[in-house]
Amino acid sequence: MSFQPCVSVNHGVLSRVLVLLLALGLRNLQVRADGVLDPDFEENYFEQYMDHFNFESFGNKTFGQRFLMSDKFWKSGEGPIFFYTGNEGDIWTFANNSGFMVELAAQQGALLVFAEHRYYGKSLPFGVQSTQRGYMQLLTVEQALADFAVLLQAVRQDLGVPDAPVVAFGGSYGGMLSAYMRMKYPHLVVGALAASAPVVAVAGLGDSYQFFQDVTADFYDQSPKCAQAVRDAFQQIKDLFLQGAYDTIRQNFGTCQLLSSPKDLTQLFGFARNAFTMLAMMDYPYPTNFLGNLPANPVKVGCERLLKENQRIMGLRALTGLVYNSSGTEPCFDIYRLYQRCADPTGCGTGPDAKAWDYQACTEINLTFDSNNMTDMFPDIPFSEELRQQYCLDTWGVWPRRDWLRTSFWGGDLKAASNIIFSNGDLDPWAGGGIPSNLSTSVIAVTIQGGAHHLDLRASNPKDPPSVVEVRKLEATLIREWVEAARLK
Ligand SMILES: *[C@@H]1O[C@H](CO)[C@@H](O)[C@H](O)[C@H]1NC(C)=O
Ligand SMILES: *[C@@H]1O[C@H](CO)[C@@H](O)[C@H](O)[C@H]1NC(C)=O
Ligand SMILES: *[C@@H]1O[C@H](CO)[C@@H](O)[C@H](O)[C@H]1NC(C)=O
Ligand SMILES: *[C@@H]1O[C@H](CO)[C@@H](O)[C@H](O)[C@H]1NC(C)=O
Ligand SMILES: *[C@@H]1O[C@H](CO)[C@@H](O)[C@H](O)[C@H]1NC(C)=O
Ligand SMILES: *[C@@H]1O[C@H](CO)[C@@H](O)[C@H](O)[C@H]1NC(C)=O
Repeated sequence: MSFQPCVSVNHGVLSRVLVLLLALGLRNLQVRADGVLDPDFEENYFEQYMDHFNFESFGNKTFGQRFLMSDKFWKSGEGPIFFYTGNEGDIWTFANNSGFMVELAAQQGALLVFAEHRYYGKSLPFGVQSTQRGYMQLLTVEQALADFAVLLQAVRQDLGVPDAPVVAFGGSYGGMLSAYMRMKYPHLVVGALAASAPVVAVAGLGDSYQFFQDVTADFYDQSPKCAQAVRDAFQQIKDLFLQGAYDTIRQNFGTCQLLSSPKDLTQLFGFARNAFTMLAMMDYPYPTNFLGNLPANPVKVGCERLLKENQRIMGLRALTGLVYNSSGTEPCFDIYRLYQRCADPTGCGTGPDAKAWDYQACTEINLTFDSNNMTDMFPDIPFSEELRQQYCLDTWGVWPRRDWLRTSFWGGDLKAASNIIFSNGDLDPWAGGGIPSNLSTSVIAVTIQGGAHHLDLRASNPKDPPSVVEVRKLEATLIREWVEAARLK
């Protein structure tokens, strides 16, 4: 295969970029229009090894790894480095939704670095063809962590602070990576904040029904009537389908295509179920634009929309529209375009990033979650290990390797680690796949009451539940302690 570097930057240029950045001098603390401190990130590319674990096939070959940096709050030469271990998407998405790190950097005089994960955003080892079948072999958790390790050492070297303490931060898969950084490279990071990191579930150690059961609980807790209405809506669609009333479904649910095969029905169910997943994960108390544009308290808004319609199927359409029609410009739902079935039943999204994530869910990351219409309110949509194996073989020519992630990253047995905070929100369906209790004096678990997916990483907001304010304080204290302990060494 041919090597086409998308960007070529050498260490010399990186140094020059950094010097320029530091020379910018006096900066006022600017506040963005939305009230969030603006760190004025500089976007850079780092010349990164393509393959950290093989000295032959790719030899010295490199690609441009994107990273964002801000020294606006840095106590030059003295402050720590707060390093976000990028996850499955454009690094700007995470930088724009992790305001807590920015606030903490301002308090503790830290340098901010957000590193993009290989194969996502603009960090593409084989250019635009990276996410095609045949080019994916360099996409592993281990390679991504090695990228972070090499990058952070280069940044420290270039800034002349080779021993500056680094704290890893991340949310969701990024939270897993921050914890793994501390476990794999404890000499490089003094500790990690792993927010909403489902380390146990992805190692294949959880209950496969837990995820959709917890999504259901969010809607049931909103109102039992709402959860029942969801069941009724799915039932109505199923009945209409069995009667052959395909056109009624098309008109009332608003799909673009006429759905008439069992495959279409499963697609429709998966499409609708995914809207509930998104609303539950993003159930923040104020409007957000993170994984889509959502109003404050979207679970509540969704239930209101659902219950307002006389017909359940129309109500389900209105609820799913919160996710798939937030612009209000979709005349109909193109269910095969808007939702793409993949090896992650909680959704991969669409586009090249979705392809990369699908591959990860086909290799190291185990997400064999299913709904069963018993412990949850959704139709029975199985996703067994056998279905995953077949899908992954057909799609990528790979076979998931049993227990590899557990071997490489310890599963839930993290007693031997240190300085990791696992935070979870009780509204978040991912919480059940994470670490629920303190494992040692320094591997601790905290729960945010009224918190959705990594709420603690977001900027402070007047609508924040008291619990997240407390949790952030604890996190800030522990992070300061880790940094100070490293300084004393
Ligand atoms: C690999 O890089 C090193 C230094 O960065 C250089 O000295 C060496 O010649 C390179 N080897 C090959 C095979 O390109
Ligand atoms: C991040 O925020 C910047 C400025 O606030 C904006 O220009 C950019 O489009 C945002 N990017 C993403 C991916 O959210
Ligand atoms: C994935 O996890 C499930 C349990 O949720 C387990 O049965 C299966 O063996 C795991 N797969 C692999 C490849 O480890
Ligand atoms: C999307 O929203 C617009 C505006 O509210 C509405 O007219 C349209 O019917 C919606 N699309 C679907 C598929 O419900
Ligand atoms: C859910 O289970 C109930 C009870 O077995 C059944 O009547 C109903 O048809 C199922 N709903 C769906 C959408 O499959
Ligand atoms: C774990 O320890 C922390 C701090 O030591 C404490 O605040 C927290 O409540 C403990 N978590 C649990 C689940 O007991």
